[in-house]
Amino acid sequence: MDDLRQLLRDLEVFAGDIPQFDPAATPDTPSELFSGWLLGAFEAGVREPHAMTVSTAGTDGDPTARTLILKRVGPEGWQFASDGGSVKARDLAVRPYAALTFYWSPLARQVRVRGPVVAASAEDSAADFLARGVGARAEALLGRQSRPLADLAERDTAVKESLARLEAEPDLVAPGWTLHTVRPESVEFWQGDKERRHTRLTYLREGEGWRKQLLWP
Ligand SMILES: Cc1cc2nc3c(=O)[nH]c(=O)nc-3n(C[C@H](O)[C@H](O)[C@H](O)COP(=O)(O)O)c2cc1C
Repeated sequence: MDDLRQLLRDLEVFAGDIPQFDPAATPDTPSELFSGWLLGAFEAGVREPHAMTVSTAGTDGDPTARTLILKRVGPEGWQFASDGGSVKARDLAVRPYAALTFYWSPLARQVRVRGPVVAASAEDSAADFLARGVGARAEALLGRQSRPLADLAERDTAVKESLARLEAEPDLVAPGWTLHTVRPESVEFWQGDKERRHTRLTYLREGEGWRKQLLWP
């Protein structure tokens, strides 16, 4: 344990070349800046640059966080999809508010998004479901996410049956599948610096537009 503690202390952060960030040269909207940073992460070879931590809270107010794939981003918000029976779906049903966190290690960049969450129409959610690969649809069709599983064989048998159902009825859509949009109230861009002169720029929604604000690191 002591060795591990020492290893943690000795680990270098922000190794290698990291980019500069000039907050004065940023677009008017956070979705534009985010798109540029996401493309930068993709070009830097970040594995799953579209993976983000999604934090929600349920009735007890306690947070739960998990990694999800970003489906789409634009002026309307950041989108992800979920199984209707999952913890996140249950949390969002009682408290439709989420925080998203992206971290792109080679670039020493973090983005944090907060805001209310709205569910897409049944049509849009179904379109998202049908755009998934067959394996992902088979798994989601089970609608059992985060429920206790007796053993792995039970999972494999259920997925096999689900694949057979999809082969017979390729247009099947999981009933609870929902596309969610986080409508941002604030979006913070954080650029790490080797000398710890990190740069933080937050966009705060003001009416129809955005106000930009620098933050102390
Ligand atoms: C890289 C990565 C991507 C993931 N993408 C998704 C996703 O798009 N949708 C999803 O429901 N779970 C995804 N998961 C699994 C979730 O992190 C989580 O285990 C699952 O959604 C159950 O969460 P719950 O606590 O909301 O029930 C992903 C996990 C990883 C590591």
